[in-house]
Amino acid sequence: MNVDLVFKVSSIVEEGQTISASSMAKNAGGKGANQAIALAQAGMKTYLAASIGPDGLFLEDMLKDKGVDASLVTHLDSPSGQAIIQVDSKGRNCIIVLSGANGNVSEALIDEKLSGFRKNDWLVLENEIPMIDAIAAKAKAKGMKVCLNPSPANEAARAVDPADVDLLIVNEAEAEFLAQKKDMDYPEILQCLGQIYETAEIVLTASSKGACSIDESGAFVMVSSPKVKVVDTTGAGDTFLGYYLCLRSEGSSIEESLEGACYAASLACTKMGAARSIPSRSELDF
Ligand code: RIB
Repeated sequence: MNVDLVFKVSSIVEEGQTISASSMAKNAGGKGANQAIALAQAGMKTYLAASIGPDGLFLEDMLKDKGVDASLVTHLDSPSGQAIIQVDSKGRNCIIVLSGANGNVSEALIDEKLSGFRKNDWLVLENEIPMIDAIAAKAKAKGMKVCLNPSPANEAARAVDPADVDLLIVNEAEAEFLAQKKDMDYPEILQCLGQIYETAEIVLTASSKGACSIDESGAFVMVSSPKVKVVDTTGAGDTFLGYYLCLRSEGSSIEESLEGACYAASLACTKMGAARSIPSRSELDF
């Protein structure tokens, strides 16, 4: 969970530059919180295990307002996670994250937070907290299913045992990092990741171009994103993840789930902010 400080700029600042922002807003965000909200808004019973400081109480309120069970949120005396986000005139962003309270993870805490979950419950993991390899392994040992969004992509994401992953959702940069290979087309990326994450369903998101996967018959399937007036892309990937997993869990096909998730993510781009821009299921036609 992060306190997002969002600066509206005409273009993203470059090395050595000082630029003026036209506005600044303090919003609720953090990949885990956004993904939990997207899951809950899509219709799944969702808990978020996270840590916040006294400055993060509004983050917890946002979770509750959006239907996430916040009973696994830990309160610390130290500051919450922070994100400095620039959003340019085309809605593109760049983000710096400081982990703050999100760094509060230990073996004992993992065991405690996982204790209420059972076989076939889903664990969704992003990479803004430490020890995600241990969390995935412990969840898998309980018979839970694991969805990994290796964002931000770094060595900690690669440390997760691929055999622990049931659903991998990556963007192009994350895919190239995990595959350690560049300049591949989408089918090649999926094939390459499939050789690493042999037992996982793999979904590649391609921002405004849409998303793709390998369907139930083994064929490459790509779905385009609907065209919308983009205001802020922050949280779009998190929205995609929540809707994709929920639709798959409801029994929708891979192609149907890609379509629904792209639609939800596109709508999230039409509003400023991360958590607050995630659409509810009633705003969508499915
Ligand atoms: O995915 C978007 C999120 O990334 C933002 O809300 C920010 O907090 C960072 O975690």
